[in-house]
Amino acid sequence: MLSEKMQNAFNEQINAEIWSAYLYLSMSAYFEDKNLPGFANWMKTQWQEEIYHAMKMFDYVNERGGRALLKPIAEVKTEWSDAIDVFTETLNHERVVSSLINNLVGLAISEADYASNNFLQWFVAEQVEEEATAEHLLEQLKMINGLGHGMLMLDRELAQRSFVEPTQE
Ligand code: FEO
Repeated sequence: MLSEKMQNAFNEQINAEIWSAYLYLSMSAYFEDKNLPGFANWMKTQWQEEIYHAMKMFDYVNERGGRALLKPIAEVKTEWSDAIDVFTETLNHERVVSSLINNLVGLAISEADYASNNFLQWFVAEQVEEEATAEHLLEQLKMINGLGHGMLMLDRELAQRSFVEPTQE
């Protein structure tokens, strides 16, 4: 059974994951508006990933005899100056999420909740990937520097991304 403290912390993180999904969906809408459907697709896939993260925690809280309590989702931004601005925010946001996951791990250890610690290790590894991917795309965008040819090539590449459930990878 989850302690109340651990349950509350998981509920905060479920909210943060859904907020992340909402942020990326807003970024997807921004890219649609800029006629960059590949970038929009990449962000929509990111939205699906974040919902997956939230649901993985939601199911875990229930499985451990806790109660998932859903809180309001805060407003997200709708405008950015360009793609570099979007991916700078994406990278910074993923770094914040990594620190939130690390705090959860710290709490699980201090509570001697080894099942939660074990569960959270999947998220620790996932965050390494999330940060690396965002950083990689941000660096590529800096190289392209907004030039049409490079933007169109990257847009075509990002159009290929689709959500794959981690168990099926
Ligand atoms: Fe759920 Fe992008 O971290």
